[in-house]
Amino acid sequence: MMDLALLERLVEPRWSAVSRAADLGCGTGRTGQWLRERGVEHIDGVDVTPEMLDLARRRGAHERLEEADATATGLPGGAYDLVICSLIDEHLDDLRPLYSEAHRLAAPGAAFVLVTFHPHFIMTSGMPTHYTNAEGEPVAIATNVHLISDHIAAGLGAGWRLAELHENVIDDAWLKIKPKWERFRNHPFSAAYTWREDSGAVQGLGSPPPWLPR
Ligand SMILES: C[S@@+](CC[C@H](N)C(=O)[O-])C[C@H]1O[C@@H](n2cnc3c(N)ncnc32)[C@H](O)[C@@H]1O
Repeated sequence: MMDLALLERLVEPRWSAVSRAADLGCGTGRTGQWLRERGVEHIDGVDVTPEMLDLARRRGAHERLEEADATATGLPGGAYDLVICSLIDEHLDDLRPLYSEAHRLAAPGAAFVLVTFHPHFIMTSGMPTHYTNAEGEPVAIATNVHLISDHIAAGLGAGWRLAELHENVIDDAWLKIKPKWERFRNHPFSAAYTWREDSGAVQGLGSPPPWLPR
């Protein structure tokens, strides 16, 4: 519900028109599978965690899977009409290299879809950062709060145009699954951005964003 429900709401891009996608921080391949179910046939993925890549390989949604950082993927530049990145940016201390790498990968007119925890939610609820691994050892990971303005600055700075933005709030559907979150009712939980590579576009006033009520 935090990511796939938001992807369902995006008007852009038209998933079935995507010919090749790059999935940055692909994890176990959930997003890749969702894209395949919507008709995207060619998906390459990168992740820094080999165990996650093993699970993604088993799932079989991606054509190519590489152990690489989302900010320096080694994938071919200008080759993807969709770059997607779901629920990883809180692991990065700076958003700018991520937006720049996505832009490097983008073909002219490509979309960059980024799904993220809402900064308000991380700040209000906190985020678990300490775990015990299978060997019983304590493990700590970092969670970085990126404000919406940080995303806007990083996206525009890398040459993207913002095409669409949605925020997901904790509602009845959420509370059915997580009744303990009643205190967070109506708080924003996650957000999805669609950015566009616009280098070939004629500059002008443009039309209103497609998701705005007319
Ligand atoms: C919460 S999971 C999300 C996975 C997947 N995108 C999904 O939505 O199912 C976060 C993933 O980001 C990966 N990750 C964290 N930092 C990364 C980085 N700098 N480059 C690439 N992957 C990274 C982790 O290994 C993990 O698989």
